Order: sequence, then structure tokens, then C-alpha cells
Amino acid sequence: MVKKGFHVTVVDDLSAKTDLRYLKCHIENNNAIFSKTDIRDYDKLMELDSDFEYVFHLAAQPDVKVSVSNPRFDFEVNIIGTFNILEFMRQKEISKLVFASSLGTVYGEPEVYPTPENYQLKPISNYGAAKAAAEMYCSSYSSLYSIDIVSLRLGNIYGPRSTHGVMFDFYNKLKKDSSNLEILGDGSQTKTYLHITDTINAFDITHTKMKKGFDVYNVSSDEQTTVKQVAINMSEALGLEEVNFTFTGGKRGWEGDVVFTSVDTLKLQSLGWNAKISIEEGIVDYVKWLNQ
Ligand SMILES: NC(=O)c1ccc[n+]([C@@H]2O[C@H](COP(=O)([O-])OP(=O)(O)OC[C@H]3O[C@@H](n4cnc5c(N)ncnc54)[C@H](O)[C@@H]3O)[C@@H](O)[C@H]2O)c1
Repeated sequence: MVKKGFHVTVVDDLSAKTDLRYLKCHIENNNAIFSKTDIRDYDKLMELDSDFEYVFHLAAQPDVKVSVSNPRFDFEVNIIGTFNILEFMRQKEISKLVFASSLGTVYGEPEVYPTPENYQLKPISNYGAAKAAAEMYCSSYSSLYSIDIVSLRLGNIYGPRSTHGVMFDFYNKLKKDSSNLEILGDGSQTKTYLHITDTINAFDITHTKMKKGFDVYNVSSDEQTTVKQVAINMSEALGLEEVNFTFTGGKRGWEGDVVFTSVDTLKLQSLGWNAKISIEEGIVDYVKWLNQ
């Protein structure tokens, strides 16, 4: 956004030990401001300026496992936090929001593949339920208070600057022990993975082509990859030839894990978006960054 000439205010409570090093130069050049704010704290949010053209709401508790073990915390950050952002926008008369929702987790275990955006939402984790509930508030706020909102249903985003997720986990495990890798579940969980560059392009296209009202897009590649294949690709990207994979077993990697994802992205493609980076190329790129 800074490259596009926007002046950006970044709001984060730094709970994810977020590294501000990439923001520093933009702050020094007076192109960005940082506010350490918890989105659960509505009064603190209201102290922020009001002359924003867009809000990009990505702050979240992003872990399905945490949402299962600590549902109230997930509810407070992901539902109340999103409600506070919407309420902040209503009070400050800000009229454009891009919301980072989630892909597999809001659909749960659908009976239609590839799953289109208008398919019924039936989450199987509290995280998925929170994202679905947040989308419902986006819909009502959009209708009642004329806020234009795009919800991007993202799934398994990876690449430089990402410090969680299956690839990050495999990388760290292999750095500790390059001959053995433990894989959660039976390894057959089949998901789509999207490189951060393709993800940013989706944010870019949808915010510039935003329509009136509330709209939703699946943001995903069409490549389906098993978790075991991710392990193979990661081992290859690290130049490891003989890694012994062990599996913790069971269909799911963890409670609430959606084990098969395939979504329809024709709506996003109709705006001119396509996933350009294959998982092989993407993992190599990610490993380069992780090695640094
Ligand atoms: N990475 C993925 O695969 C993926 C998939 C689907 C959806 N998403 C969504 O995309 C967004 C970004 O995810 P990410 O993977 O970059 O996660 P992340 O943890 O790297 O980023 C989330 C940020 O939110 C901040 N945060 C957490 N609680 C907060 C609070 N109460 N107040 C203010 N800031 C808070 C964290 O410090 C962190 O910087 C999230 O909304 C997530 O749910 C991500």
C-alpha cells in the first residue's frame, strides 16, 4: 500500500511477536504509523485517526488448535475484535473494508467440490465459526451502515515473513533433525496452499474493484497437495535426500482440522486474478527467506 502512495496506519498488539523490521523504513520515511493496540480494546481503537479510505482487517487469533483449547479467547479476538473494527468504522464513517476470512474452516466438510462462495457455511472448528460469524456481521454492517466490504476467504498462506503453518513447522523440525520428520495425522490431508505474492495480488485486485455492499471471494490455488507431499517438497528444497517420515496417525492433524479442501475460484479469476506460483517454486522461495 505504501508503494501505491497510501499513508498507512498499522494496528497490532504484537501478541504474535510480530517483527516490525519491515515496517521500520516506512515509519522513518513518514509513510506509515504504528499503533500497538489490541482490537478487543474498543476505547483505544477509537483514539486512532478517522481519515482512512480503507481498512484491511487481518488481526486475528489464527490458530484452529487454540480456538479448540481456548474458545473464549478465540471468540474475543476474532468475533468481538472484528465487531470492534466494524463499530470503529461506523463511528468514524469509514466506508471500505477488506476482511481476511478463512477458506476450508468456514465450509467445514462440504458435499460439493470445488466449493463455491455461495455454499452453506458449516464450520467444524471454533476458529471457522468465528470467521463465519465475523462475515455475518460484515454483511449486516454493510447493509445497515453503507460500508462496502470484501471478505477474502484465505487458506494456507505461506511464503516469506510467515512464521507459522505446516511449512514453517516442517522447516524447523528438519533444521533440528534432518533425518526424521514427524507429520501430524496420516499425511493424506489434502489442501490448497497459496504463496503470499498471489495472496497480496488478490488483496490488490479486490480492493481496487470493490463493489457496493458485501462480497466474498475464495482465494486459493487449484493445486491440491497432501501434507506428505508438502513434507517431500520441503525436504527437497532443503537438499535432504533421505528423510524418514513418521505419522502421528488419524485422519486429522488436530481437532477441527479440515482434511480436504477444494474451492471454486472462478469469481476471483473473473477479476483477472490467477495463482501464478506453483507449490514447488513457492517452497523454494520460502526456504530461501527462512534460511536468511
Ligand atoms: N496464514 C494463513 O494461512 C491464513 C489462512 C486463512 C486466514 N488467515 C487470516 O489472515 C490473517 C493474517 O493471518 P496470518 O497468518 O498473517 O497470522 P499472523 O498471526 O501472522 O497475523 C495476525 C496478526 O494479528 C495480530 N493480533 C493478534 N491478536 C490481536 C489483537 N487482539 N489485537 C491486535 N492485533 C492482534 C498478531 O500480533 C499478528 O501480527 C488472519 O486474520 C488470519 O485469520 C490466514
